[in-house]
Amino acid sequence: MCGIIGYTGTQTNRNVVDVLSNGLSRLEYRGYDSAGIAVADPTVSVYKREGKLAALEEALPDEADDALAGIGHTRWSTHGPPSDENAHPHTDCDGKVATVHNGIIQNYQELRDELEANGHEFDSETDSEVIPHLIERALDQGASAGSAFRQAIGRLEGSYAVAAVFHGREEVYATRYQSPLVLGVDDGGTMLASDVPAFLEYTDQVVYLEDGQFAKIRPIGIEVRDGRGALVDVSVETVDWDPEDAGKSGYDHYMLKEIYEQPRSIRECLRGRLRPLEGSILIEELDDVPRPTEVHFVACGTSYHASLYAARLFRERGVRTTAFLASEYDVETVPIDEETLVVGVTQSGETADTLRALRTANGIGAQTLTVTNVVGSSAARETDHTMYIRAGPEIGVAATKTFASQQVSLAMLSSALTGECSREFVESLRALPDQIQSILDDSHADAVAEEFVHSDAYFFIGRDYGAPVALEGALKMKEISYKHAEGFAAGELKHGPLALVTERTPVFALVNGDSNTEKMLGNIKEVEARGAPVVAVSDDPDLVEAHAEHVLRIPETHWRFYPILANVQLQLVSYWVAHRLGRSIDKPRNLAKSVTVE
Ligand code: G6P
Repeated sequence: MCGIIGYTGTQTNRNVVDVLSNGLSRLEYRGYDSAGIAVADPTVSVYKREGKLAALEEALPDEADDALAGIGHTRWSTHGPPSDENAHPHTDCDGKVATVHNGIIQNYQELRDELEANGHEFDSETDSEVIPHLIERALDQGASAGSAFRQAIGRLEGSYAVAAVFHGREEVYATRYQSPLVLGVDDGGTMLASDVPAFLEYTDQVVYLEDGQFAKIRPIGIEVRDGRGALVDVSVETVDWDPEDAGKSGYDHYMLKEIYEQPRSIRECLRGRLRPLEGSILIEELDDVPRPTEVHFVACGTSYHASLYAARLFRERGVRTTAFLASEYDVETVPIDEETLVVGVTQSGETADTLRALRTANGIGAQTLTVTNVVGSSAARETDHTMYIRAGPEIGVAATKTFASQQVSLAMLSSALTGECSREFVESLRALPDQIQSILDDSHADAVAEEFVHSDAYFFIGRDYGAPVALEGALKMKEISYKHAEGFAAGELKHGPLALVTERTPVFALVNGDSNTEKMLGNIKEVEARGAPVVAVSDDPDLVEAHAEHVLRIPETHWRFYPILANVQLQLVSYWVAHRLGRSIDKPRNLAKSVTVE
């Protein structure tokens, strides 16, 4: 969703417009349909365009030597369609202040009516444009820049991260409420952004702004105040993400790079948490969390699929557990009390539906835990406990390595919190990185993709632990190829989906040599009888070869982990189908990496 960048600096070799443009290109992955920047010079100059950053680049000045500070924005439309006018930054009537906003202002209509009645003229259909006009009104009434900014923000209801520049001033003013914003500091300047990768090439020294805090970033140093205006002592933290991790390293797409990074990210995820000799798992940061009597997972999208997988693990260990779509989590209808452990699974830590569900659980007094990839994210800061999945930055909109690391983290969590583990479980976890590497080395998913690239639809079936990965396989396919794809628990096939199966709908079946094998083979025969080509993902080719046109092979593993391996093959199939169709793989149409509105 919308991305924000801001910069003010002292280094003459660091051009404000360049820093903002670089930052915006690093934020592209969040999803956007228009972009713009504003620089404070003796006046305020705004450049904005509908469409991709290339369109904005053409509008930018070759030189902006007078620039003192600047802000930039990638917009993902909510109020008003993508257009030059609706793109941010927005300005006041006189063009003396420019602002960018991420989030939703619920009372914008009331504010707009009030401002228009006072003579303010609006150029866009956005909710965001009320902000510069509110600031202008406060300035006209004699307020200083900082105070005008605070007064304007004080009128907003909703969620927001906002940054503003004023004509002739070298500071950037910013605040946040339920929308991400992080500050970056180094000797040559200060920055702010929705996400650390936006400025990681300049600095890894960050300050996480809290909800309701106000920041004034200066060319040297930052000032943070609370809502009442009192100065706040902030701590500067070092992020351990490498700028190279946020680049493509020679791959055509971030998604492919991230699929190939999975052995490394899982190794990172496991580091220091396995006790092979004792056959146990210790997650130090969760050492004080007692065995739960009941667990609720709340999550969206791919993270929800990881939660379905995890819920099964917890149930198997005797804990009453349900995975909920965060958008459907309603404590009025779900039995929850202070003993319930509510686990938010979210790679970004910023998904609005998941945050809402966690906040509701916090409000009831339940124990809350976040499983996330982003240090300092809203979910991590607002819950009682946090477990980091340590996947490193994921830029492709479609989640790949974070899904694998979520599954591995949740598998460890289920053992750490219940104390139920075994040497075999630990050893099998330890073997996963090498096993994934062998899949990546030997996969012929590209040939399978080539054969089925013009199919009408793709179906994915699995049972037990394989069912969530069937859902994930279909989600990945539709996200990046824009082709129809559906995933089912294989038992559901004959309750409807079978009507859709034809010779033009390949069926991807997850089969391993466990107790479900016979039933899976039965399902395969059902679709085979309707002429559908079958692609089996299996650790036992002999078992399935007679019925499948292709077998995508995975190594043998603990039966609870085979879907983690099978998923790698499915990721590759989706990638190569989308690649062959020439899709915008890293930034699929209409989708965003981090969905910060409910
Ligand atoms: C968006 C992304 C998905 C992701 C979902 C949940 O829809 O495009 O890849 O699975 O949000 O995101 P989260 O950050 O909460 O895991």
